[in-house]
Amino acid sequence: MSAQASLHTEHDMLTALIDSVESADDAMAKATRSTVLTPRFYTTDYDAMDRLDVSSLRSEWDAMIAEYEGDNNHDHFQRDATFEQEAREGMASLSPELRQEFLDFLISSCTSEFSGCILYNEIQKRVTNPDIKALMRYMARDESRHAGFINSALRDFGLGIDLGGLKRNKSYTFFKPKYIFYATYLSEKIGYARYITIFRQLQKNPDKRFHPIFRWFERWCNDEFRHGESFALIMRAQPHLLRGLNVWWIRFFTLAVYATMFVRDHTRPLMHEAMGLDSTEYDYEVFRLTSEISAQVFPVELDIDHPVFRAGMERLLARSIAHANAKQRGGLGGLIGQAWHAAAAGLTYVRLLLLPVRRRPLPAQIRVQPVW
Ligand SMILES: [Fe+2]
Ligand SMILES: [Fe+2]
Repeated sequence: MSAQASLHTEHDMLTALIDSVESADDAMAKATRSTVLTPRFYTTDYDAMDRLDVSSLRSEWDAMIAEYEGDNNHDHFQRDATFEQEAREGMASLSPELRQEFLDFLISSCTSEFSGCILYNEIQKRVTNPDIKALMRYMARDESRHAGFINSALRDFGLGIDLGGLKRNKSYTFFKPKYIFYATYLSEKIGYARYITIFRQLQKNPDKRFHPIFRWFERWCNDEFRHGESFALIMRAQPHLLRGLNVWWIRFFTLAVYATMFVRDHTRPLMHEAMGLDSTEYDYEVFRLTSEISAQVFPVELDIDHPVFRAGMERLLARSIAHANAKQRGGLGGLIGQAWHAAAAGLTYVRLLLLPVRRRPLPAQIRVQPVW
């Protein structure tokens, strides 16, 4: 078997390892699980958040807050007349495997939108700093609309997630504010890049739009773009976060976000194929876009076209598949297998982290427009 063919067989095996969702309980269990690859919920140091000072960027900050106040998406997250029929017909046409991949996509997207909602809302409640409080309130407003809109699509299948229960029962990871800034900036910008790439593809190929929710992605991703802008301003207002040893944290988080996305997306090959996309090409397009946008704040970019980088991403994927298979096998052999593959993936990760990066000067003009 060629390497390519064998990789595809392994992709099929990994797809088979996505826990299938047949009931609202299954959907809830999937949303609640926290692993290396699934969306997490976060807490942080709220006092440190309260001490943030953005006054050095006052005019940019106030212009951004005015955009949130203007709320140009206030009427966007409502269904139009044809939504339900399109959803019904679209889902009836999907194979059971593709349906599972799409449900997996909806559940993980809903969980990560809601993760932002909880974090921003919690910060908003705990701080008195008017700049941070206003920003967090607006972002929580947006993420709550996003999570609710996806959840209503899940409810169409009787698979709605009990978001209140999720908030109570899912575990929380503590991140220092600077890690929140790096990770959340990236996930907002990568969220924009993912949604806009799908939207543009389906705009060109409307016959491949198997669910109406994708029609909402264009205006939706402008919210994510603006959330990313907010974290860019916060980081640029604290320049020490963008130099010295912190540059290693930027490299670490960028690689973590890219690698997680690469592995996760390759568990949904049929969904990308149905949209006329190839998982690998789609991911590299999203990395390229994210890299370009993040020039506003990150003084380094990963060399995503380096052959060692590309081979390393494939290796991380192969190790995740092997790890999942060992876990499913169970027993002592399975445990040893899991430890072995986790260690090997860790080594690959370190190797990728040490690859040379491209340096770039930070621009005087910080804000970027969502023009992709
Ligand atoms: Fe969102
Ligand atoms: Fe967002």
